[in-house]
Amino acid sequence: VAAALDDPEELRNDPAILEAADFLRRGEAVAFPTETVYGLGANALDPAAVDKIYFAKGRPGDNPLIVHIAERRQVDDLAEEIFPAAARLMEAFWPGPLTVILPAADRVPRRTTGGLDTVAIRMPAHPVAAAILRVAGIPVAAPSANRSGRPSPTTAKDVWEDLAGRIPLLVDGGPAGIGVESTIIGWPQGRPVILRPGGISPEELQDVLGEPVELDDSWKASVDRPLAPGMKYRHYAPKGQLYLLRGDLDAARAEIVRRATADHAAGRRVGVLTTAEGQGVYPAFCAVVACGTRRDLATVAAGLYSALRSFDHLGCEVMYAEPFPPEGIGWAVLNRLIKAAGHRVIQVHGAT
Ligand code: TXA
Ligand code: MG
Repeated sequence: VAAALDDPEELRNDPAILEAADFLRRGEAVAFPTETVYGLGANALDPAAVDKIYFAKGRPGDNPLIVHIAERRQVDDLAEEIFPAAARLMEAFWPGPLTVILPAADRVPRRTTGGLDTVAIRMPAHPVAAAILRVAGIPVAAPSANRSGRPSPTTAKDVWEDLAGRIPLLVDGGPAGIGVESTIIGWPQGRPVILRPGGISPEELQDVLGEPVELDDSWKASVDRPLAPGMKYRHYAPKGQLYLLRGDLDAARAEIVRRATADHAAGRRVGVLTTAEGQGVYPAFCAVVACGTRRDLATVAAGLYSALRSFDHLGCEVMYAEPFPPEGIGWAVLNRLIKAAGHRVIQVHGAT
C-alpha cells in the first residue's frame, strides 16, 4: 500500500486497495492486514471463493470462518437475529478486535460457517482492511493468513513464508499491531461466553455487558468437546515441541533451566520464550527469544507469533515458555501458548 494509512480517502483510491477489492469481487482469495493479524479473505457469500481459502490454508472444512464487514448495517444481511447484548458490544467495540457469533441468515453459505447455523462477524479497525472491505462492498470471510496449524501472521513477510505460490495477491500494510486474533463472544445457551480470548479483554466485555462473562478455560476444557470448533486443532504451533510453564515466575525459571540443561545434554536445541526482563536469566546454550515486557502484556501479545516463528528459524527442537498472568490481554497470550503447546503445561508451585 502506497497511500498514507491515516488518510481513508487516499487509501480508498490506492491502486493496491482497488486491486484487492477487485480480486475479492471476482471470487479470488486475497491476503491483507487487519489490526489483529493478517487475514486471507474471500467473498463470504460465494462458496467457490470460500473454498479457495480452505485450499490455500490446508484448513479442515469444518473449521468455520469469520465474516468481515465495513458497515454496521451489513450485519442485518448476515444474521437472522441480533441479540441486544450483541448490539451493545458492536456499538462499544466496532470497528475493533471483537467477533460476535449470531444465528446465521439463510443467505450465508454453510461452507462459510463450517456447516453451523451460526455466523461469526467482525468489523476490523485496520485502515487497509476497512478500505478494502468498503471498496469491495461485500462481506469477506477471512481466517488468519497462515498455513493451518502454524502461528498466525503479523507481517506480510509471515504470510509470504506460509502462502507464497498459493494465493494470487498479498497486500502489505506493515505490521498488524495487536498481534493476537479478535476476541470471539457467543451466546450458546443464552448467556455470554468468550469462545476465544483476544484483542478485547474479558474485563472490558464485562464492563459493557454489566454481567459476568464466562471464559472457555482452555487449559481445563477437554480437547474433545471444544466450544469454538477451531479449538480442537493444534494451533499456532512452531515446528518443535513447546511446553508452557505455569506458577510462580522464579520457580518456573528454575524449572526451565533444569529441563533445558537436560535437553542440551541430550543433544537437543533448546529455546526459551521470555520477556525483556528474562534476558540474562538462562544459560548461553539456550536460544532465548524475548517478547515484549511484563510491564505491559500488550507488548507480549504483539510479539508473540513472530517469537513462535523465530524458534523455527533458530532450529529449536524443544521450547519452554515462561508463565503469564491471566488478566487483560494476558488471557489471549495464555490461550495461544497453551494451544501452541498442544496443552503440554508444566505446573510449578505458586499462582498463575
Ligand atoms: O482477528 C481475527 O479474528 C482474525 C483476523 C484475520 O480478522 N481472524 C481469525 O480467523 O482469527 P480464524 O479463522 O483464524 O479463526 C476463526 C475461528 C474459528 O477457528 C472458530 O473457532 C471461530 O472463529 N468461529 C467462527 N465461526 C464460528 C461459529 N459460527 N461458532 C463458533 N465459533 C466460530
Ligand atoms: Mg487462525
